[in-house]
Amino acid sequence: MAQIFPKWADKVPKKIQLGIIVLVTGIVFGFWYFGSPDYLEVGYAPEQPIPFSHDLHAGQLDIDCRYCHGGVELSAAASVPSSQTCMTCHEAIEADSPDLAPLRESWESGDPIEWVRVHKLPEHSYFDHSIHINAGIGCDSCHGRVDRMERVIKKESMSMSWCLDCHNNPEEQLRPVEEVTNLAWEPPDEEYQQEFGEMMVSKRNIVAPVYCNACHR
Ligand code: HEC
Ligand code: HEC
Ligand code: HEC
Ligand code: HEC
Ligand code: HEC
Repeated sequence: MAQIFPKWADKVPKKIQLGIIVLVTGIVFGFWYFGSPDYLEVGYAPEQPIPFSHDLHAGQLDIDCRYCHGGVELSAAASVPSSQTCMTCHEAIEADSPDLAPLRESWESGDPIEWVRVHKLPEHSYFDHSIHINAGIGCDSCHGRVDRMERVIKKESMSMSWCLDCHNNPEEQLRPVEEVTNLAWEPPDEEYQQEFGEMMVSKRNIVAPVYCNACHR
């Protein structure tokens, strides 16, 4: 048997050695399973301090994603809007709504609303929104139909293999850049998607990297 334990351990009865192995495995599994944050899981949809509905604002009212997530086409982070952005409308609309009390408090105090993050990659991996948006990847490729969600729910695993699935065949998901925030966009047919995708890849010289330090810097 391979040397797992130091010499003195030979004197410890085999049953106890086995017991220790089971115990250690249990602890490691426990930490891994219960310690891993919820935001790594598909279907994660935490309750927010204000019941903000994308279905209402981005769907029915048709406010463009970039009105509130201005960072998407400019920087790595999409960013979440400040209370000022909400107050442009809510100083007048639903000004007394009890649901909006935390918004009014935040506006008066200057402390940001503590929205709960839904998507978050581990520290060791790097992601940039702007490069994806400017290449013509729609928000729904990665976040699903947010414009139909009462509460944001994580739709994709965002695991490494998920990133690589697209990086290996980006032409399947490219669309005209002006349609990236139109989540209802569909290619007219499969042939269009293939032709358009390949045209974009060559014309705009799109290279979705698969080498390790593109995403692990
Ligand atoms: C009126 C402002 C507003 C508009 C318009 C808006 N959002 Fe949001 N979005 C928010 C706020 C506030 C949050 C944080 C609270 C939450 O998660 O619901 C958020 C959160 C999100 C999140 C989750 C972020 C996280 O924590 O991981 C995604 C994804 C998102 N929005 C995508 C979109 C998309 C796609 C659109 C356009 C279809 C859009 N949003 C339009 C205000 C807005
Ligand atoms: C462009 C205008 C606009 C912006 C910006 C906006 N809202 Fe709204 N919001 C509305 C409208 C219109 C309604 C629907 C009012 C109604 O049902 O009569 C609404 C409704 C709501 C409601 C439901 C209120 C209730 O009591 O029924 C909440 C909560 C809310 N908004 C939160 C937010 C938050 C948080 C932000 C900022 C992230 C925001 N809104 C930004 C226009 C806006
Ligand atoms: C190629 C996949 C992809 C696309 C396309 C994409 N996102 Fe994201 N989004 C992510 C990932 C991955 C994260 C988590 C980033 C992190 O933890 O660093 C994220 C996080 C977010 C967040 C949380 C705050 C932040 O900045 O991290 C918001 C808000 C958001 N996305 C909105 C949008 C909107 C709006 C669009 C479309 C205009 C969009 N995203 C398009 C993958 C994508
Ligand atoms: C739906 C398709 C798609 C998904 C999903 C996707 N990407 Fe990309 N990614 C692209 C495309 C297309 C490019 C190349 C853009 C260009 O060349 O203009 C790219 C480029 C990149 C780059 C290069 C940026 C630079 O600075 O050169 C990084 C880093 C990256 N992606 C990280 C990720 C990570 C991490 C994930 C998963 C969390 C991910 N991507 C998921 C399509 C995607
Ligand atoms: C397109 C982006 C991308 C590329 C390219 C990429 N990775 Fe990753 N990798 C990720 C993301 C995102 C995660 C985090 C996913 C998670 O934890 O669910 C990750 C996680 C990992 C992990 C941690 C595994 C785990 O389960 O937590 C290792 C190790 C790793 N990558 C190694 C590599 C190596 C080696 C390469 C090159 C052969 C590589 N990666 C290329 C995006 C990428």
